Amino acid sequence: MTDYKKYIAEKINIEGVGADEIASYLEIPPTPEVGDYALPCFKFSRLLRKPPVAIAQALAADFVCDEVVSLVEAVNGYLNFRLNRLSFTLSAVDAVLDKGEAYGDSDEGNGKTVCIDYSSINIAKPFHIGHLSTTVIGAALYRIYNALGYKAVGINHLGDYGTQFGKLIYAVKHWSDIETVREKGLKELTRLYVYYHEQAELHPEMDDEARSYFKAIENGDKECNEMFEFFKEITLKETQKIYDMLDVTFDSYAGESFYNDKMAPVIKELEDKGLLTESQGAKVVDLSDYDMPPCIILRSDGASLYATRDLAAAIYRKNTYDFYKCLYVVAYQQDLHFKQIFKVLELMGKPWYKDMVHVSYGMVSMEDGAMSTRKGKVILLADVIEKTIEKALDVINAKNPDLENKEQTARDVGTGAVIFGALSNNKIKDIVFSYDKVLNFDGETGPYCQYTVARCNSVLKKGEAADLSKAKKVESVSAEEFNLAVLLADFPKTLKEAAEKYEPSFVTRYAVDVAKAFNKFYFEHKIVTDDASVTAFRLKLTAAAKICIKKSLALLGIKSPEKM
Ligand code: ARG
Repeated sequence: MTDYKKYIAEKINIEGVGADEIASYLEIPPTPEVGDYALPCFKFSRLLRKPPVAIAQALAADFVCDEVVSLVEAVNGYLNFRLNRLSFTLSAVDAVLDKGEAYGDSDEGNGKTVCIDYSSINIAKPFHIGHLSTTVIGAALYRIYNALGYKAVGINHLGDYGTQFGKLIYAVKHWSDIETVREKGLKELTRLYVYYHEQAELHPEMDDEARSYFKAIENGDKECNEMFEFFKEITLKETQKIYDMLDVTFDSYAGESFYNDKMAPVIKELEDKGLLTESQGAKVVDLSDYDMPPCIILRSDGASLYATRDLAAAIYRKNTYDFYKCLYVVAYQQDLHFKQIFKVLELMGKPWYKDMVHVSYGMVSMEDGAMSTRKGKVILLADVIEKTIEKALDVINAKNPDLENKEQTARDVGTGAVIFGALSNNKIKDIVFSYDKVLNFDGETGPYCQYTVARCNSVLKKGEAADLSKAKKVESVSAEEFNLAVLLADFPKTLKEAAEKYEPSFVTRYAVDVAKAFNKFYFEHKIVTDDASVTAFRLKLTAAAKICIKKSLALLGIKSPEKM
């Protein structure tokens, strides 16, 4: 189809501003009465040294309307355009249907690799509600980048290093055994960990033994390493269930311990470049010139730190994947950590430090305030998902008790609701999770979008027999049809922007907007009518809307049940 923004932009002449830039400023006005597209002229005030009102008037006077753009008006510093709605709508719908499920895909990323570090769970720790955002934001970005032609590499940077593993070995040896851990899984490991800390407060000498077990892991002791690998296996087996539910995958599980033998060259490089200084026995990179506390590389006892391993990991990723960008989907609590890492890489003279991005996000808490991770009281993500699925089943039983395949549908709706809820807002905002909110079929939710897809399916089924080739004979389109088409035309741009801003919420927002526009159209107009061309056109519009909603949901990791 014609890229209408580009088409309009090419008809506007502003010295020093290219058509692509002008196209990127074109907005869809808040109400369609204003126009179909609007150009905010304050964007050019600085450059042209003129007030927006005068710019808009001058541009309007110069603009020549044609068979595509039927009207131009200058209003309050905006240049408003009205399109030939019929031809716009028809070509927007065809553009979607021509590409089908591939609509929105592009090759802009061909030849470029994007590493995405997400979920990055800690071994032997419960997978709690706090991991929801990193997991679903990262997985959504992974799918979106792939759709745009990039090669995404999903990395689960496991937290599998530290004295806590020595403590766990101590605890298993003294108060449990491998068989019990195998049977009870992570729950047992968490119990042991909590119990260890209670005991260690009374008997601090326990820590020495625990430390020696950790050293033994590092020194390659067979038994300790087997136990350590066992903890990993138990944790990954349990988390895999959640990844399966959320449809999340990784290409690499190289965690912190993977870098054990890759830190020495980095430390040497830091030393050679004169970046290491001593501070109370520790080796640090001084960052006071950049208003940051020092980045600690080696503790006074010679042990490496989280930051040391992240430096080694960044260099390893650059060498291995030659990434175009390397993203870290990690909560804002680690803002400083990543600022320090990126700065140290810059000081080391790695020009690619600029390609590292901390994709920071807010906290998730439960509606009832529960969130405590201390004292072993955690909200497990698996429990939240299961409970949402149960509640989804209740809703389905109330709304549509005869639905076939109810259990599976409830699973898709429940998990979809959780994912959609976590991706609904700008990612940096804190989220309060509410079962009723994410499951509200009439709200701006996953279930609402899924329900709309199911509605499209039933409309399409009803119109199965229609001859769609008659659609081009349709003589006019309504505001509802046109508005829906404008949104459909915007899908490729939405994906691009979601990737550029690392914001899957653009896609959730988009899915809701299309669903709302479709429902408005659906309630205002009969789709299968006596008029063959109107019927054909409306069925095609319905099919196109379904593609855009379903694909948006799929990119977020949400399935669209056939019926609901
Ligand atoms: N495991 C860490 C945590 O739970 C997150 C790791 C993030 N990735 C990284 N490369 N530092 O806090």
